[in-house]
Order: sequence, then C-alpha cells, then structure tokens
Amino acid sequence: MAKKLSVLIKKLPYLILFFTVSNASFLAHGQIPALVSEGGRHTLMVDGKPYLMLGVQTNNSANYTAALTDVWPVVAATYANTLSIPIAWEQIEPKQGEFDFSFVDELIKQAREHDVRLALLWFATWKNNAPHYAPDWVKLNNQTYPRVLKQNGERLNSLSPHFNATLEADKKAFVELIKHIKKVDKKHTVIMMQVQNEVGTYGSVRDFSKTAQALFNASVPAKLVEDLNQKPGTWHEVFGDDADEFFHAYHIAHYVNQIAVAGKAVYPLPMNVNVALRHPDNPGKPGQYSSGGATDNVIDIWKSAAPAIDLISPDIYFRNHTTAMKVLDLYSRPDNALLVSEIGNDQVFARFFFPTLGKQGIGFVPFGMDYTDYVNYPLGAQELNDEVIGYFAENYKLLRPMDQVWAELSFKGKVWGVCEPDQPNTEDKKIWNAEASKSAGKEFDAEAFDAKKLGEYYTQNIDLGLWNAEVSYGRHMFWIDPPVGNATPSGGVLIAELGANEYLVTGFRARVTFGGSAELDGKQTMIVRVEEGHFNKGEWVFERVWNGDQTDWGLNFTSVPHILKIKLATY
Ligand code: DGJ
Repeated sequence: MAKKLSVLIKKLPYLILFFTVSNASFLAHGQIPALVSEGGRHTLMVDGKPYLMLGVQTNNSANYTAALTDVWPVVAATYANTLSIPIAWEQIEPKQGEFDFSFVDELIKQAREHDVRLALLWFATWKNNAPHYAPDWVKLNNQTYPRVLKQNGERLNSLSPHFNATLEADKKAFVELIKHIKKVDKKHTVIMMQVQNEVGTYGSVRDFSKTAQALFNASVPAKLVEDLNQKPGTWHEVFGDDADEFFHAYHIAHYVNQIAVAGKAVYPLPMNVNVALRHPDNPGKPGQYSSGGATDNVIDIWKSAAPAIDLISPDIYFRNHTTAMKVLDLYSRPDNALLVSEIGNDQVFARFFFPTLGKQGIGFVPFGMDYTDYVNYPLGAQELNDEVIGYFAENYKLLRPMDQVWAELSFKGKVWGVCEPDQPNTEDKKIWNAEASKSAGKEFDAEAFDAKKLGEYYTQNIDLGLWNAEVSYGRHMFWIDPPVGNATPSGGVLIAELGANEYLVTGFRARVTFGGSAELDGKQTMIVRVEEGHFNKGEWVFERVWNGDQTDWGLNFTSVPHILKIKLATY
C-alpha cells in the first residue's frame, strides 16, 4: 500500500498535468460541438470526439411540428445520425420583438427521442437569394429593409446586404435563437448552425442602389486587400472586370459574418454557409448563378470577410461524376473542411459519398429526405421510394457502426475514397474509336478495342504511398474478366491507413486489388492477411479470415456490406 502511495505521489505532477490539460480542453470546448482544424486537416468534434455527419435534410417546409411525423421514418430508414432542418425567421419572430421557440423546443425533444443530432438551417435574409422566410414585417417593408436594385433601377426580390437595419434585425433574431438553444440544449443535440441558405442574388451581379454605389466607389477594405495580396484602390481598380461580383460577395460575406460573430459570442456552435454552386467549367455570368454566394471563384474573399464561418459547404446537384469530383476538390481545402451540405437524393448521387469521405469530408447530406409529399425532380429523385432511400441507407448502415472510428482516421491518418464513373456516352466511345483507328489502321478490331478501353475506363488507381490500390467496377468475383461497369454507376470504395502496410477497406460493387508501388523497388508483394469484421463501440470485432478465392482475384465487394482489415508485405 505504502509502495503504491509513493508511486502515486511520484506520478502526481503528471496526473495534475494530465487533468489540467484534459480539463482545459474540456473547458475550452465545454463539450460544445466544435470544428477543429490542425495542419490543414479538419474534424467536427461532438461530445469531445470526432464526428462523422451522416446527414439527411428535409424538404424546405418541414419546419413545423405537424411535418415531423413524415421526417423521422426517413431518418430511421437511412441510418442517418444527423438531421438538417430549417428554422425560419418568420416562424420564430412573426411579430417584431416577439419570439416563439415552440417548434425549436419540440424539434430538439423529438430529435433526442430519436437519438439524432441536429444541424439547423437559419432561413432568414437569404433563402436561395430571396427573403421568402423573413417575417412579413421585413419582406413587406422596402423602405426599412431595401432590396437589391439592378443597374436599370429595377427592384429584385433579394435583400441588399448594405443596410444596417436589415442586418441588425436578422442578427437580433439569430442571437435570440442561439440564446434559446444554449438555454435548452444542454445535451448538445444541435451540433451546427447554417447561417442563411444559399445566399446571393439572381438577376444582377450586385446592388446598384445609391448606398451600394457609394460603397463601390470607395476603397476596398484594407484586410481584404492584404489577404488577397493586392494593391489598395477602389473595387474597380483592384479587381477590374470582377469588381462587381467580388464587391457583392464581400458584402454578403461580411453581413453573414457579423451574424455569426454575434451568435458565437453567446454560444460558439460551428457555423457554415452553403453554396448554390456555379458550374466549375461553364459558369456563365454572375447573376445567372447566385452572385455573391461563396462560389468557387470567391472562396478566398469569403474566407477573408467571414472568418467566423467555420466552413463553406457545397450543395451538389451535378449528376456528372467529373463535375461532382471537381466540386469536391474545390471545397476541400486546408482552410476549408468539406461538408456536402446538400446533394440530390437520386440514386446517382449516393456514390459520391465515397469520394466525399476520401477527401476527408466531415459529412454528407442528401436533400429532400422526408415523406412530406414533395420531390425536387429533376434535381433529385422522381420519387422518394424504398429503392432510392436504400442506396443512401446502405452507405450509412455500413459507416454508422464505425462513424467515430472513421472520423478519427480521417482527421489523424490517411484516407481515400473513390466511386464509379458515369457510363461512357457515345461521344466518349467515338473519341476512343477515332484514336484507335488512327493508330491501328485497317486491322483495327473495334469490338476488342472497346472492351479494352472500357476496362481502362472502369479502372481507377489510387496511390497509397508504398502501395497502390486498383479499383474496378463491374466484373465477376472470380477471374480477370475486364471490368464493364455496374448496371447503374453505383460502386464505391473507402480505404484508410491503419499502420505500416495495414489498411481498412470497404465499399460496394467494386473490386480492390493491392499492389506495390515503384517505391518497393520491384520487390514481390503479397497479402499476408485479410480479416473480415465489424466495429462495436469503436472496437474491432473479428469475424473470419478471407483467403483463397476470396483474395486471389482481388477483394470483391458486392451489395452486401463487408469491412476488411488487410496486411500487406513483400517477399
Ligand atoms: C437548394 C436549396 O438550398 C434547397 O433549400 C432547395 O431549395 C433546393 N435547392 C431545391 O429543392
């Protein structure tokens, strides 16, 4: 006993240090959800642990108690751990200065009953450019809360970011909402606040009112000039042809930032903005897309003007694989955690879950996931039926038991994720054939060539460092028949490094073959062991070893969930 005591006394300084450090971090975050970034990597901390947001978002008008009965069944069917749902300014402050948080209270209560976290969407000054969700006393009062004026003087249904009365009114309501959440949500059911929804203006690049014009003719704020490495001057002098759009983006970002700052001063929840994207290759003109929102060309302006916004999140409705991948690249940055805050709820979008997580995404949120009798086809699915829900559900069902494990691996280690490309269209095939006939001359065998090309098309190579992984889609489990793709593009694979030569691998409808990279200097490689198992409360539970046919032809993932731990070696 005395010996134990003396050991304890010797260790006391360390114990004190340990408790001070862990207590300090406890106090720092107070277990309040937080977005943590370290060395360009990010994680959302919930209850002090990395959290993977397996989200679903409701349709727009589901923010009433009567609608919630049509929401929870879809949340349950998808295995989602987070619900994104609007809170409208018009519903919490229908009369100026009189607040009603009854829906917020009911929502939090029901979310807890369903063991689901909430990401709340503040629909206020801007809901897809318009003030539709602002109270009547705002949207019917142009004098006090002016709208954007086009260059020709025409008034648009988008509030201007340049008027203090609008900002102050929105900010006051937001702060009241945050105060209320702080008061009632001791269990941190609410884990994120989205400040506005798809901000920006359609139909004009910016506001051309007198007030706006005076600001436009003035100098660009010094901080922005400095952050963007520019020389001081007026907006036009500094940004030339982009001046109008950059000006609008700056002022909307600054407006949103002030709301976020005020909210965080009360209760520092993670805060994001979502983006009505412009097409990354063919954007058109600002105003054709939502001018002033955090589109890919103005992310740096937003980062400078809205530092209280923790992350800028893309809303993806591009069905095309190449375009969607480009968007994921544009919004996953050392200074921006990737959260797909909305994505279409049709089958083709479900596969983008894999590359989102592969780019260290902190979450994924298909939109329109409820039975309130609305579908946003052609953006999303034509019908939200069991089959469509099933594609999202299988992904979440696979990840849910290891969501925290994955979030930790993604934050601390290395992760990769890919998904099946679109089926090649006739244009692609024409290009292949033209190339081939050029190089092969008369002997050209179009059929054999197509098969070879298709095989290459459906094969993706991932550089894991010392090892490479080849992922292919649409082949039998046994044999080396060339990949031809699945009946619908639906395959996807996730890989995480567990240690030297050890990886966690999972996915659907794909084959993964590991091989050595050039760094192995031509050494022969082998799979030492493939364990199948699952996670239970973060612990790996071994089920069986895959060997023989199950590993000779690569690791074949079907529509049945399998989680593998693999060990590689040279001989
Ligand atoms: C994107 C918006 O952010 C959503 O609220 C919704 O309006 C969809 N577009 C379209 O259904």
